Amino acid sequence: MSRQGSDALRKSIERMLSEASTRMQAGKVSDAARSYKKAAQFADQALELIEDAEERRAMSIRAAEYKQRSRSLETTGRADLGRIKPSEMPADEIVYSDEESDLQEQQILLLIDDTPRKIDWDSIGGLSELKNELKFHYGLAMAKNPDGIEIEGWQNIMFYGPPGTGKTLLACAIANKLNATFFNVKASQIVSKWVGESGKLISTLYRVARKFTKDGRPSIIFVDEFDALCKSRGIDGQLYHQQMLASILSEIDGFSQKGHKNLVMTIGATNRPWDLDAAVLSRFERRILITLPDTDARIEIFRIHLEGRGLPIDSSSVSYSALAKKSERLTGREISRLCKEATAKMLAEMNPEIPNIVDSGLSKIQSYEIKVRPLNNSDFAYYLDTLIPDTNLDDIESYNDWGSHHAHQKIKR
Ligand SMILES: Nc1ncnc2c1ncn2[C@@H]1O[C@H](COP(=O)(O)OP(=O)(O)OP(=O)(O)O)[C@@H](O)[C@H]1O
Ligand SMILES: [Mg+2]
Repeated sequence: MSRQGSDALRKSIERMLSEASTRMQAGKVSDAARSYKKAAQFADQALELIEDAEERRAMSIRAAEYKQRSRSLETTGRADLGRIKPSEMPADEIVYSDEESDLQEQQILLLIDDTPRKIDWDSIGGLSELKNELKFHYGLAMAKNPDGIEIEGWQNIMFYGPPGTGKTLLACAIANKLNATFFNVKASQIVSKWVGESGKLISTLYRVARKFTKDGRPSIIFVDEFDALCKSRGIDGQLYHQQMLASILSEIDGFSQKGHKNLVMTIGATNRPWDLDAAVLSRFERRILITLPDTDARIEIFRIHLEGRGLPIDSSSVSYSALAKKSERLTGREISRLCKEATAKMLAEMNPEIPNIVDSGLSKIQSYEIKVRPLNNSDFAYYLDTLIPDTNLDDIESYNDWGSHHAHQKIKR
């Protein structure tokens, strides 16, 4: 049947997922379970309409995942999230009742992030050699071992480098390609949120992540700002950071069972690799510098953020290689911002009447269609000429320096 039908169902699925997430945030666990159940029902209906084999496979995995989330929440949804009280006691001294560990599981389910579904390798400019390496090693980690031989891919990797260079994007693309459940853990946030319980919650995180691998799909635990765990921040802060770090390290060590593929993978990311201590480094087999994009990579990144978004370009006026040349030392994030600024300038010029229409009421603005024209060189010129890159040369040198002492290998962009 129609593409339209399945597209409408996909939209309904997204609506249910966002409803589930709002309900989880509000501590309405049973309601969130219902939203996931509905998402699963929509996914089942979509399955009947989709003909393409690859799309069908992806959708059936989604249906199974939402059913699993709904079931997990139904079984743990006896009490409100709001009842969790940060304890003053160190994690080891806390005795957890079943109900409390159920509540912890709910906290963990909040970390599951669906963003990777939208990020493919093509959404990331440059880094082609690294992309291939990642595919190869994660492929090894997932493929069948020959009889009697244990082959391991990369289980734990650490991305480091300046902000905005694509570290999170890469983690998302890996998760997308492996159909992994993606647990997005921002170290600084959870330490402050889970004060006193962080060690225990990390064990719960890995337990839940293992649970999600029962159907053969891997779980990826993405720990952003990993350095935050290695720093001392006052006496209490230090204790909680250390508890959490110790738990992560022991989990990483702990559960590779002989003869079984370990389907829980940890990806760390940091802008401050020099804050990582020896205990951390010894667990992360690969430390990979994600540095500034070179000229070719910048061309790709401009393309992704312009044509990739369907924006019309006046190709007689805009040259990608000229844009790339003028944007030396910019990160992917800065290039994406630049494209947004140029687009905003064009939109302001084409639609000066919008503020007045807004004054005339909601229905008027809702029926107004935004006018666009192809982007030209002058839309970019002002921003390109006044640019001050966020990353300075000293920063780049510091990353290279650290890498030459601590990274196993350098990978070209
Ligand atoms: N290689 C790239 N290709 C396309 N877009 C990119 C690239 N790198 C960065 N971007 C853009 O910048 C945004 C930020 O990228 P990302 O979140 O991966 O950076 P990061 O390295 O994780 O930064 P931070 O260290 O601050 O967490 C992306 O959402 C994307 O819009
Ligand atoms: Mg990031």
